[in-house]
Amino acid sequence: MRRVTLTQFLVGRQQSNGINADLRLLVETIARACKAISTRVNKGALADGPAGPATSNVHGELQKKLDVLSNEILLEANVWGGNLAAFASEEEEKPVPITEPYKRGEYLLLIDPLDGSSNIDVNISVGTIFSVLRCPKTPEGKFCEPEEAAFLQPGSRQVAAGFAVYGPTTVFVLSVGDGVHAFTLDRETYTFVLTHPEIRVPTETAEFAINASNMRRWEPPVKRYIDECLAGSEGPRGKDFNMRWVASMVADVFRVLWRGGIFMYPRDSKQKEGRLRLMYEANPMSFIVEQAGGAATDGRTRILDIQPQSLHQKVPVILGSREEVERVTSYHR
Ligand code: F6P
Repeated sequence: MRRVTLTQFLVGRQQSNGINADLRLLVETIARACKAISTRVNKGALADGPAGPATSNVHGELQKKLDVLSNEILLEANVWGGNLAAFASEEEEKPVPITEPYKRGEYLLLIDPLDGSSNIDVNISVGTIFSVLRCPKTPEGKFCEPEEAAFLQPGSRQVAAGFAVYGPTTVFVLSVGDGVHAFTLDRETYTFVLTHPEIRVPTETAEFAINASNMRRWEPPVKRYIDECLAGSEGPRGKDFNMRWVASMVADVFRVLWRGGIFMYPRDSKQKEGRLRLMYEANPMSFIVEQAGGAATDGRTRILDIQPQSLHQKVPVILGSREEVERVTSYHR
């Protein structure tokens, strides 16, 4: 099979007018930053030096936490490209506008620089999630100031979204609105190679992912769905289910894309708004899952239709194989 790199794939999309040059460059820059983060994640404890993570480095500075470092890698990679108006991140309270001497572009980038970072110390997959929106224009046709309000657009307006999983291999999953494609990092050539074209979420599934330690606090519809799965072939579903929970959304969602199933982080009596962030976790993942033929709701509403109220707002998430998501959503009605 002919090897297609991410760059070749994106150039192809540009030539067929699927994306413009600025969006192509933006995605390439994000992917390049993900390679750098992957290299750093791979070093693991070796990067901390022989005395462990609490020591200072050769410059007498304290070693930065990996999520902070990943944020800086993404910001530095993107700040000078000329295609961004502003950048928002889980690690930054407010959006970071692009300022002089750099040129401002038309896109807004939202990221979770290192998702699942509590898994790093125990050598379990982590990842980067990103979402791209257009900066809105004023009635006069000029780009708005890229403040928080400019970012508060429903997920259906995303022009691109994706995530990288730093696992046994580094995989970069992307959608620019015409399906979902995944690229594996070839460490010999340091390029992302298309390995999973046109991903479709399988409809037949018998796997669910949820943090079952919260079971006593779930709402009745979620409890009912999981009880029915657990009842297996003797219950109303008439088949046995398997449970998986990596506790890294990137790894859990990649599995759902490839093997089907459902991923849930519902609201509960303790986490009343849910746990995951709407704008840089739920929205990009829902865009990807829908583009792959799956579905995503908060139990009642399609995630991509939710009007955000604030940059860091949380939301319950139920996503994956369409029939399963529709079943849980119908239990909420
Ligand atoms: O970003 C939040 C996150 O780390 C997700 O990647 C993951 O799905 C979830 O939290 C894990 O939550 P818990 O610690 O409850 O298992």
